[in-house]
Amino acid sequence: MPNVPTILVLNGPNLNLLGDRDPDIYGTETLANIEERCRSRAAELDLAVDFRQSNSEGELVDWIQDARASSAALIINPAAYTHSSIAIMDALSVLTIPVIELHLSNIHRRESFRRRSYVSKVATGVICGFGSSGYEMAVDAAAKLIGTGGKR
Ligand code: DQA
Repeated sequence: MPNVPTILVLNGPNLNLLGDRDPDIYGTETLANIEERCRSRAAELDLAVDFRQSNSEGELVDWIQDARASSAALIINPAAYTHSSIAIMDALSVLTIPVIELHLSNIHRRESFRRRSYVSKVATGVICGFGSSGYEMAVDAAAKLIGTGGKR
């Protein structure tokens, strides 16, 4: 592990389209802007950020597995895989580092199928409904958990 603890921030399918995608629900900020905000918040806390996005479930599973060796905490917005992916839930369940589930929108105020999260069953905690600010909140939460030796 590098000297500065690294927070792995994973983003699932269609989050590469933020800015264009349903701005009434997800806001107008791009994922690149959000990445920049995560990096500066983490730098203030003496942490590094490894920020990634994939539309592929298998790639996300591979990255979650990699986190075992390289990351002090994981923040994940699994997007639609939240509601369907047992593979992502199983991969997360192997981790011992803190896992923060994150959503831009409040998934509990939306369609009923979004209320079920497989990821919540194995996450340390959940942040949802605060738009892009949720990413900075998740970095703050990860920093606290790392500082107190928090586990998943
Ligand atoms: C989301 C909520 C999911 O239900 C949806 O499929 C997404 C984004 C959010 O950030 O609010 O793609 O994870």
